[in-house]
Amino acid sequence: YQNPQTAADPASLTVLVNKNYALPAGYEPALEALGSGYGTGSLRPEAAAAFRAMADSAREEGVSLRSLSAYRSYQRQTSTYNRYLSQDRQASVDTYSARPGHSEHQTGLALDINAASSRAHFENTPAFAWLKEHCAEYGFILRYPTEKSALTGVGYEPWHYRYVGEEAAKDIM
Ligand code: DAL
Ligand code: ZN
Repeated sequence: YQNPQTAADPASLTVLVNKNYALPAGYEPALEALGSGYGTGSLRPEAAAAFRAMADSAREEGVSLRSLSAYRSYQRQTSTYNRYLSQDRQASVDTYSARPGHSEHQTGLALDINAASSRAHFENTPAFAWLKEHCAEYGFILRYPTEKSALTGVGYEPWHYRYVGEEAAKDIM
């Protein structure tokens, strides 16, 4: 958050949104509900279709993948971040909740699957193992791996996946 820039192309499927690059406060993508059986929320149509395809094939192998949180508006992220700030010091909050404009959830390309807290130990579940093996085939990446925390500035979030398209996902994963 030293000298944040505005992302040059907020609607790009590979837009980088992090502590150094923000989305404009007014950026609101066109969205599509994930639909019943897929959990809560909406994503951009490309990402919603990819999530449904991924969840359908996981289900065929006995693995349930459900969204707990997908698109979040700038305003929603503001209230979420401020709620954490009222309970915890900022240096700590900044490791698990993005400041408004800096959350990938505002892109409409990111979602939290099955868990949203480290207390759930999602990394020890069959669903996590399935995602690790297959998420890139559907265009998703694990965005905050534990071994990259020093780079991302975010703690391990085994539940947070970002759609970037299949080609980029395979390269990144
Ligand atoms: N939990 C992630 C960093 C977010 O708030 O976007
Ligand atoms: Zn998330």
